[in-house]
Amino acid sequence: MTFNDTFLKACMGRPVEYTPVWLMRQAGRYLPQYQRVRTNLSFLELCKNPELCVEVTLQPIDYLGVDAAILFSDILIPLEAMGLALEFHEGRGPVLPEPIHGKAALDRLIVPDPRETMGFVLKTIELLRRELSVPLIGFAGAPFTCATYSIEGGSSKVFWETKKMMFAAPELFHAIMAKITQTTISYLRAQAEAGAQALQLFDSWAGILAPGDYRHYALPYVEQIFTQLRDCAVPLIYFINNGATLLNQCESIAAQVIGVDWRVNIGEAARLVSPKVVQGNLDPAALLLPEPQLRTRLEALLADAEQATGHIFNLGHGVNHFTPPEKAKLVVDLVHQLSAQPDHH
Ligand code: CP3
Repeated sequence: MTFNDTFLKACMGRPVEYTPVWLMRQAGRYLPQYQRVRTNLSFLELCKNPELCVEVTLQPIDYLGVDAAILFSDILIPLEAMGLALEFHEGRGPVLPEPIHGKAALDRLIVPDPRETMGFVLKTIELLRRELSVPLIGFAGAPFTCATYSIEGGSSKVFWETKKMMFAAPELFHAIMAKITQTTISYLRAQAEAGAQALQLFDSWAGILAPGDYRHYALPYVEQIFTQLRDCAVPLIYFINNGATLLNQCESIAAQVIGVDWRVNIGEAARLVSPKVVQGNLDPAALLLPEPQLRTRLEALLADAEQATGHIFNLGHGVNHFTPPEKAKLVVDLVHQLSAQPDHH
């Protein structure tokens, strides 16, 4: 099969024959074929088994017909490699039973060699590159998002512990951010060296910060990561969830693509981040719309995105667990149809 590079072209702002599509969390529990793999082992066991990670990465490529693959793993894997205990509890999500609350825990945190501690991820990438005819996206969590898990001990609603540390013990907070940043740079570089053809940084929680606090406590670390990764020569993507009020600060980030959630109009996002390319941003719940309304909404989204330097279609956040798989497939087909440029050669 010939290699489909539409996604990579769009990342670089080059002309494309149609709008490329992939979906955040395109591999996962909404797919019965994923559930079947997961019945025999825990999520973390799955993440550490390269052959099975390859299998579940490929499931949505075969079924949905998306234009890019994303490595099957999790943003919390590097925190475990740094020495933090990590568990996933069914129905509750990630639990870090020994979160960082003081200097002693900070000092125990290591900046690991990704080849020694996360070889299973790099192995998955190498195996995937032999199978894929679409580009492979590698990823990591952004420092602020990872820091919230390491300080809260899991998911949070108010992020009180994180903000308490930011404001009452800033040296400690910045030291944690610095260690996570160093780990993230060497981990993403190793992913590119293993064969990842694009790299996405997930900032799922930066949107909880006031603009001035984002600028001071989170943005400098994101800037550092992308600046350091420029010489990897692969497209760099920064996904910022709930980030409408922060997009005007993205100019200094050396990523070619900014991923946005559904709370902002994609055309407005494109104006704010121009000349960067935009990725997004359908509300994951909109997959439940009846087909005619879904089509109308996609037409509007694609029209709004026309003012961007380039557009990669995605959801504004991950595919929900309770999404009917055929609706995800319908969206991919509709975007391909509606965006096809008949006179492009
Ligand atoms: O298909 C893909 O997108 C690739 C795999 C992927 C997963 N997680 C698999 C996963 C990616 C890119 C992630 C990123 C991730 N992980 C983020 C950033 C994106 C976002 O959603 O904001 C975050 C915050 C995490 C942390 C995490 N992992 C949480 C909060 C949870 C529990 C909630 C949930 O949806 O289950 C996970 C578990 C997880 N990561 C699952 C999958 C498929 C479900 C595990 C299972 O029970 O099988």
